[in-house]
Amino acid sequence: MDRFRLDALARRSLLRRLRTIDSAPGAEVELEGRRILLFSSNNYLDLATHPRVTEAAISAIRRYGVGAGASRLVSGSLRPHRELEERLAAFKRVEAALVFPTGYQASLGLITTLAEDCSVFYADRLCHASLIDACRLCDAPLRVYRHRDHAQLTRLLQRGRTPRPALVVTDGVFSMDGDLAPLPELDKAAEQASATVVVDDAHGTGVMGATGRGTVEHFGLEGRPLVQMGTLSKALGGLGGFVAGSRDLIAYLVNRARAFIYTTALPPAQAAAAIAALDVIEDEPERRERLWALRRRLHDGVRQAGFDTLDSRTPIIPLLIGDAEAALRLSEALLSHGIYAPAIRPPTVPAGTSRIRLSVTAGHTPAQIDHLLEVLQKICASDDSLRERLRGAPPPPS
Ligand SMILES: Cc1ncc(COP(=O)(O)O)c(C=O)c1O
Repeated sequence: MDRFRLDALARRSLLRRLRTIDSAPGAEVELEGRRILLFSSNNYLDLATHPRVTEAAISAIRRYGVGAGASRLVSGSLRPHRELEERLAAFKRVEAALVFPTGYQASLGLITTLAEDCSVFYADRLCHASLIDACRLCDAPLRVYRHRDHAQLTRLLQRGRTPRPALVVTDGVFSMDGDLAPLPELDKAAEQASATVVVDDAHGTGVMGATGRGTVEHFGLEGRPLVQMGTLSKALGGLGGFVAGSRDLIAYLVNRARAFIYTTALPPAQAAAAIAALDVIEDEPERRERLWALRRRLHDGVRQAGFDTLDSRTPIIPLLIGDAEAALRLSEALLSHGIYAPAIRPPTVPAGTSRIRLSVTAGHTPAQIDHLLEVLQKICASDDSLRERLRGAPPPPS
């Protein structure tokens, strides 16, 4: 690789580098020799280190070892995979579920398989990269509709009617904006056009809905023919992905989804950890309550400080900055005060919408949230150009 390409990224403030953390992904971590406050993890319910979850993983390692040894269809389909799939189907209140090694692979496996029968994809402009990549692997054309614009989608679906059904692809909770897909409207538009909606609920599972079942529960759409996928890597604290839907869909995926068939199965300890995480989600609703109370505290605080948080409704709270260089500067200023919240820049978000993406977890304390707010205020007080940017933000709610 040409050094020139790296230099070009650096000149545009788009160079990324990996930082090393020497501790579990809690509210405080040890980053390159320093104790710092972490505001960027998707470990929303703080389950990555929950004793029931870690103990389940350890005892599964003792019984099954560290790896599945093969693809599920060869010899890697182990008891914890089956049990987890039954638990996920019950949790999502659908007939069946299928576990993949990662959420990314669940997207690839699901979309490429559904594409066999689909004429065209319609995807929200801010869909997760895994969904877009999956659509790009298929022959069917990909049409992008404006972010959350269900009216535009309805028009596109009506105009583009074909004998074979269309597939509508959306995140439930958008991973960089923290806002919600208008699922009831998407469901209605799809029904009118005999299309199918696929919801990537990576950030909704465990977080959204009265009992944490996700954005489909949040919108009261359980029982509707939406196909859901999600991850075990965020609120559930581990690793892995899943698809939840009808028994026939799951049986077909087992036969056709290349991202399921041609890869080694999820390590059984991760399946056992996810089962324990689902137990904790059901047994400890106070975790979710704590998460939402902390989220409210932080969101109110940053809005009062003048930040534009787009239409965030979830524990993902973007601080919209605009250009990549300014977002990077704010992220570095936060780090100099012992707070890690990386700048999210293109290509992860559209050009001109670089931001700090804050994420809250049930493992944070109110004092840590207040500390972050104080630090943000201190940085704003000493940075004229940041203050100038905030003046253009929409006014805070009264
Ligand atoms: C919306 C969304 N979908 C899918 C994924 C992929 O999940 P995983 O990290 O389990 O591969 C992620 C996260 O990385 C995500 O944010």
